[in-house]
Amino acid sequence: MQNFIDKLQSSLKEGSFVKLTLSKPVGTRLIAYVGTRLIASVQGQSIEELRNVYVKPIILKNEKMYSFTYRYERRDETKNYDAEQTLEVITELLSGIFLNASLFTLTEDVTLLVSKKGKATVMCKAVKEQREQNVQHDKVKNRLINTDNPWWFKLGLTTREGKVTADMQHKFKQICKYVEIVDGVMKNVKFDGKIRIADMGAGKGYLTFALYEYLTQKCKYDIMMEGVEIRPDLVVKINEIIKESNLKDFRFVESSIESFGCGCQQTMPKVQSSEFKVQSQLDVLIALHACNTATDDAIIKGIKSGAKLIICAPCCHKQIRQEMEKSKVVDPITRYGIFLERQAVMITDAIRALIMEYYGYKTQVMEFIEMEHTPKNILLVGRKSDAPVDKESILKQIEELKKQYGIERHYLERIFD
Ligand SMILES: C[S@@+](CC[C@H](N)C(=O)[O-])C[C@H]1O[C@@H](n2cnc3c(N)ncnc32)[C@H](O)[C@@H]1O
Repeated sequence: MQNFIDKLQSSLKEGSFVKLTLSKPVGTRLIAYVGTRLIASVQGQSIEELRNVYVKPIILKNEKMYSFTYRYERRDETKNYDAEQTLEVITELLSGIFLNASLFTLTEDVTLLVSKKGKATVMCKAVKEQREQNVQHDKVKNRLINTDNPWWFKLGLTTREGKVTADMQHKFKQICKYVEIVDGVMKNVKFDGKIRIADMGAGKGYLTFALYEYLTQKCKYDIMMEGVEIRPDLVVKINEIIKESNLKDFRFVESSIESFGCGCQQTMPKVQSSEFKVQSQLDVLIALHACNTATDDAIIKGIKSGAKLIICAPCCHKQIRQEMEKSKVVDPITRYGIFLERQAVMITDAIRALIMEYYGYKTQVMEFIEMEHTPKNILLVGRKSDAPVDKESILKQIEELKKQYGIERHYLERIFD
């Protein structure tokens, strides 16, 4: 153990420290902080299980510091220490809290394995390739969003000083990833004039504000943003924040997705009809984690209003799962409950993607954010295209999927009625 601590100390002293990971916690230990100090086995505090600790060097106010990411079951917490405190905290974490540690330096990789009986083994491996230290600060990396903007405090994401609170770290990661993806997608779409965006099932508005901020402040787009939300209390609160922040062309509308007016055609042509034209009243349709078939209602709105872009992150795929359960089709995969659940998710979204393709949307399925932050991590992105579509083949694929899993009707098929 002392051998490992010595190696850590010299890497901090010589400036060759690249990163360190602590893993294999010793069961459920009680962990808490007193000031910046982490202490174990403290009774009577709000405490949860620590899974890993990741340490990397950063530059803070021109000084080299070490950023510790404490990974708990459902959230991350970050703390920054100088070299001396870093050594102290890691030594403490290795005294009965974590059994394994991996230290990466510019010249060697050092692994520490401690057995349950307390026997420590250290393994060293020289580094052959040229290694670099990454000393960027997170705030620089996540520059798409400026957490100093006052609405982030009002929305409850940050402290008054613009620091993301510990509880909101995972939401912030999701926000940054979302903006990064939408940024990439929107760059490939040609918009004329003011861009009208509707965010259906906008909830507390974090993602709506993030996109509004990014598009207006960073991209200088001329946009009209509407958050559609069924809960009146949220709508009132968010509209107050918008007003206080003096954000123009941005509002929340109290409405169900189904009855939100975005200039959609009321009826769509039957499946058999070859072509249809819609008057575009909406440029971008967004629906993130809109529950169950609310995602389908949003897709219908997007297609009917001729949106150039449809972006949705589906949520709780109950409708198809219930149909699959009811049909009792026995399949080597879906006979297992967990697989049935996962298959229902995939079939629900695969049919959504096919129907979007049917209406001329080039559709991609991408990972929204790593599973560890939210299990609802799939993003369906459809870009309107003029390319010809083999509608017959798409309908056949939908029918085959439904037949295979005993599904009578996907909710989104109501767009064909
Ligand atoms: C899980 S939250 C997601 C919020 C936000 N889009 C996000 O991803 O952080 C879903 C929101 O959609 C709203 N919602 C659900 N069904 C709706 C419907 N049919 N019409 C309008 N809003 C709806 C709920 O009230 C809730 O605030």
